[in-house]
Amino acid sequence: MEVHTELFLGDCKVQLQNIPSNSVDLIVTSPPYADQRKNTYGGIHPDNYVEWFLPITEELLRVLKSTGTFILNIKEKVVESERSTYVLELILEMRKQGWFWTEEFIWHKKNSYPGKWPNRFRDSWERLLQFNKDKRFHMYQQEVMVPMGEWAKTRLKNLSSTDKIRDESKVGSGFGKNISNWLTRDKAYPTNVLHLATECNNKNHSAAFPEELPEWFIKLFTKEGDIVLDPFMGSGTTIFVGNRMKRNTIGIEILPEYYKMVKQQLPTTSLYLLEPLTEYEKTRPKRRSKIRGN
Ligand SMILES: C[S@@+](CC[C@H](N)C(=O)[O-])C[C@H]1O[C@@H](n2cnc3c(N)ncnc32)[C@H](O)[C@@H]1O
Repeated sequence: MEVHTELFLGDCKVQLQNIPSNSVDLIVTSPPYADQRKNTYGGIHPDNYVEWFLPITEELLRVLKSTGTFILNIKEKVVESERSTYVLELILEMRKQGWFWTEEFIWHKKNSYPGKWPNRFRDSWERLLQFNKDKRFHMYQQEVMVPMGEWAKTRLKNLSSTDKIRDESKVGSGFGKNISNWLTRDKAYPTNVLHLATECNNKNHSAAFPEELPEWFIKLFTKEGDIVLDPFMGSGTTIFVGNRMKRNTIGIEILPEYYKMVKQQLPTTSLYLLEPLTEYEKTRPKRRSKIRGN
C-alpha cells in the first residue's frame, strides 16, 4: 500500500477547496496566533481573528469525515493586561457552524522560558481544542496508554470500601469507577494534559511544535493508511510525523519558503508496505468433531 503526501502552496481558505468533502480522518494544526509573530509570517489582529478563521473552519468541517477529529493548537494572547477572548468567541462561533467542542487538552510546555511580569507568571501551557463533526468518532485509546507507575503502588495499596465496589457517580451521570479493577494492570489511560517540551531543534521555523504533539493525536485518532491534514503546515512537523507513521498526509502553506523547504525534504512518493491483515482459518465444527472423535 502506498502512503502519499499532497502539498498545496497558498491560502488554506482557497486551497482547501481542492480537497474532497468527507475525506480527511484527522486535522492537526497550529494557525498563526493573533499578531504575535508579526515579523515572520504576519499576524491577524485579535479583533479580526474569529472573522478571519471562520471561513477556514467552514472548509475544514466540509473536508473532515463524520468519524474524524480536528485538533486546534491555539492560545489567546494578553492584550492591555487582559487575556483576549478571541479563542472563547471562536469556540462559540464554531459550535454555531456545526462543530461539537468535544474536549480541551492542555499542552504543558515543560521548558518554558523563565521570566517575570508584574501581574502574572510565565505562561507554560497552550490549548489543544478537540472538535468533532459527530459525537461518535474514531478513537484508539489503547494506543496512548501509559505505564501505571508509582500511583498503583501507593494509591491502590490502601483501597477504601467504595474503591472496591463500583463507585457510582455522585451526580448520577452514569459514569462510575471501580479502582480495584486496575490492581492487576500495568498500563492506564492518560489524562488530558500532555507534558511536552517546546521544539528546540533548529527547524527553520519560529513556531514549530514538537513532533510528539501531532504523533500523540495521530496515534489516538487514526490508523495506518488514514488521511491527516495540516492546513497551516509551517515546517511540516505534522506531515513528516504522519508519513513516518504510515498515514497519508496533506499540507497547506502560504509562504513559498516553508512550502519549498518541506517539499525538498519529502521523498516524491512515500511508499510503505503495510502488512496484510492476517486471515484466520474459519471455524469448521464438523472437522473439529472428527478430530476430537465425537
Ligand atoms: C504556527 S505556524 C505552524 C507551525 C507548524 N505546526 C510546524 O510545526 O512547523 C503557522 C503557519 O501557517 C502559515 N500560514 C499563515 N496563514 C496561512 C494561510 N492563510 N494559509 C496557509 N498557511 C498559512 C504560516 O506561514 C506558518 O508557517
